[in-house]
Amino acid sequence: MSSASFDDTLAALREVLGDDGVRVGAAIGERSMTDWTKHAATRPAALLLPRTVEQVARALAICNEARRTVVPQGGMTGLSGGAIPRASDIALSLDRMAGIEEIDTASATMTVLAGTTLQTAQEAALEAGFELALDLGARGSCQIGGNLATNAGGNRVIQSGTAREQILGLEVVLASGAILSSMNKMVKNNTGYDLKHLFIGSEGTLGIITRAVLRLRPRRAARHTVLVAFDAYDKAVELLRRLSAKFGTDVSAFELMWPDFFRLGVSLTSSGRSPFAEAYPLYALVEHASFDAADDGESFAAVLGELLEEGVMLDAVIAQSVGDAEALWAIRECTAEFPVKLDPVNFDVSLPTGALGEFVDRCRVALDEKWPGNVSYFFGHIGDSNLHLTVDGRSVPDVSHHAIYAFVYDMLKPYGGSVSAEHGIGLLKREFLAVSRSPEELAAMIAIKAALDPNGILNPGKVI
Ligand code: FAD
Ligand code: LAC
Ligand code: ZN
Repeated sequence: MSSASFDDTLAALREVLGDDGVRVGAAIGERSMTDWTKHAATRPAALLLPRTVEQVARALAICNEARRTVVPQGGMTGLSGGAIPRASDIALSLDRMAGIEEIDTASATMTVLAGTTLQTAQEAALEAGFELALDLGARGSCQIGGNLATNAGGNRVIQSGTAREQILGLEVVLASGAILSSMNKMVKNNTGYDLKHLFIGSEGTLGIITRAVLRLRPRRAARHTVLVAFDAYDKAVELLRRLSAKFGTDVSAFELMWPDFFRLGVSLTSSGRSPFAEAYPLYALVEHASFDAADDGESFAAVLGELLEEGVMLDAVIAQSVGDAEALWAIRECTAEFPVKLDPVNFDVSLPTGALGEFVDRCRVALDEKWPGNVSYFFGHIGDSNLHLTVDGRSVPDVSHHAIYAFVYDMLKPYGGSVSAEHGIGLLKREFLAVSRSPEELAAMIAIKAALDPNGILNPGKVI
């Protein structure tokens, strides 16, 4: 181990990154101190802003030699505290490593630097006549590297899967500074272990993602959006199954909203008015996406009409324009405002779809019994068995966030549910990882971490 002082380490880092690539003290802005949770904002000991993979590699080699801990940072939209530094950590931001390097239309791939925002990549794919199937509310700020490090889910998982399924190749810098380049473009490649999958979802604990080959999908030329209302959860599941049987993966989103969430979402829209004249027990935002630009949505509307007649739904409002569709999505995407409007305690659990409605009912009753007056919002990507719950901490001011996490995760255990469907474990759920993972699984994770980062310099205190 090197006995380099922190000043020596900074000097070595400045040599590699230049003076403007290494910040300390007040030069480190608030953005680098915490993620979207606004939890435990802390100024790191230094902030590194590399421009190239070689700079990332040399910087990590210096930190590894000096045993300085490094926290990778992307768009800082994470919801589990994974990118929050401690005062002794060095933050490494991917902000300066942004850009699309190539679109290969024959392979249907896009090669991007990890700091590219999701929206930039989505727009470039559309321009080239393709589609990047990953989509989530934080699209304007989150980065491809962060999406992969968390294996982000989002709104289109029922169509094309999570971030993991949009990736063919990856470049990662290991703690030692070694550059692991697996920039594969082929759909088929069974040459030994598929290493990229180790890093996808590893939340910056195994390596720093610097580049990726994204898989592009054929462009969906027409989208039709509808808001529907139900009297019960089982009806929502029936609608999802019936639409999927008819339209397959043309059903591109199925977002369920319980009434408290729906009312909050509506109140945060510019009009503040519900698209429905009356209130219902349950709502879903459903999207149909067709490859055929001439598809005017008539066949989708006709099937919805039949299902309405049958009583599967109570009501439906079909968007008549892009503006209408955006207004409906604005209700669902109000979650972006949670950190400023609430003191959010966020859950992103998953459990078998058939049990999810009952879980919500039981959870609501249990929360009300335990903490009368709590204000809680239920919603989720139900097609992916993913339920979100946000408890507004302001409604239970004397209760710690930790107590709320522990209470809900305890309820999840009998269902065999997962404490994280999409946001990852990060800092906030670390203690609860064992709810969803066996001792043998945890031991395997610790062994992998030790093999790839023997000095434990990458994102310590996160995940495991
Ligand atoms: P950050 O927050 O910067 O980091 C997240 C984690 O990844 C940290 O552990 C960090 O250390 C690590 N990391 C970041 N970049 C790298 C890299 N290049 N190499 C290695 N590790 C890295 N998530 C969903 O899954 N589905 C949703 O529907 C969804 N909706 C959201 C809506 C809103 C309004 C907001 C604010 C967030 C939402 N999120 C959602 C959470 C968040 O956007 C995702 O987790 C996103 O993938 C994080 O990307 P980021 O670049 O902001 O990562
Ligand atoms: C969403 C975030 C909370 O789905 O994951 O809005
Ligand atoms: Zn989500």
